[in-house]
Amino acid sequence: MAFLCRSAASLLKSSRAAPVLLSGSRLYSSGGQYEYILVEKRGEKSNVGFIQLNRPKALNALCDGLMREVIQALEVFDADADVGAVVITGSERAFAAGADIKEMQNKTFQECYTTKFLAHWCKVADARKPVIAAVNGFALGGGCELAMMCDIIYAGEKAQFGQPEILLGTIPGAGGTQRLTRAVGKSLAMEMVLTGDRINAQEAKQSGLVSKVYPVDQLVSEAIICGEKISANSKLVSAMAKEAVNAAFELSLAEGNRFEKRLFNATFATADRKEGMTAFVEKRKASFQDS
Ligand code: HXC
Repeated sequence: MAFLCRSAASLLKSSRAAPVLLSGSRLYSSGGQYEYILVEKRGEKSNVGFIQLNRPKALNALCDGLMREVIQALEVFDADADVGAVVITGSERAFAAGADIKEMQNKTFQECYTTKFLAHWCKVADARKPVIAAVNGFALGGGCELAMMCDIIYAGEKAQFGQPEILLGTIPGAGGTQRLTRAVGKSLAMEMVLTGDRINAQEAKQSGLVSKVYPVDQLVSEAIICGEKISANSKLVSAMAKEAVNAAFELSLAEGNRFEKRLFNATFATADRKEGMTAFVEKRKASFQDS
């Protein structure tokens, strides 16, 4: 336990009890207010979950406690029927400067291997609801990997993405070599992973790592607008769409197409598919019930 950030032990103790949503916009876990993140619901209809990494002195370095809180908040939003999408952001200076190097510095192979060190990070990618990363400033190492675990990445004009682990004598360990390669192709991924060089927001856009670039001060509101658009659709069908797109990274084309077709057919078992098509024919806006 000694390597955990201060709050991690208490969070672990409280992790079995379900988190609760109290009045007001901030979410609380049964273990108390989050220590490393700010959490609330945003958007005109309060239907976009919002997680802000809040460890500014360490440029949002992803200590164990912070990542456990992010995962817990995502689970709370997944269970919240009103929330249709989630935005994760950091500060204007840093989305996140990577895993906490001070926490890792004295670790041994045996500790990492036997405790499955940082294995729980992958739970971010397990969220059922669409997650948008709004990246201002540094997204380095685990910070870049966290952004890539999200479904959509928006970047601020001054964002910088990089996998500098090689400069620390290690390699990416939370999917960086895999997700970055799929996103930007082999040559650029190799260059970034082998040199530690960063790319800027425009290069990230050109290479397909991010879908949109916005002025720094507009980034978060644009990400919320995207979240609101997603939230206006059927949450049930959005989850199916997310699952189908993600399958493209796991399956052959033939298997992926079969998987997609099964989900497409499954939408015909939902009231929302019926409502969506009926609304089109009746020339009105669809009113989805997430059923
Ligand atoms: C711990 C960090 C940190 C990190 C920054 N800080 N990054 N602490 N872990 N990853 C701390 C610094 O120690 C410093 O604290 C404070 O944040 C401000 O950082 P500075 O270096 O003074 O700021 P600046 O000169 O502006 O440089 C910014 C920076 C640099 C370029 C982002 O901080 C940097 O190179 N950080 C490390 C980036 C990195 O290597 N990331 C990959 C980590 S490995 P003090 O207390 O000294 O003021 C990784 C593996 C993932 O992510 C594996 C997942 C399974």
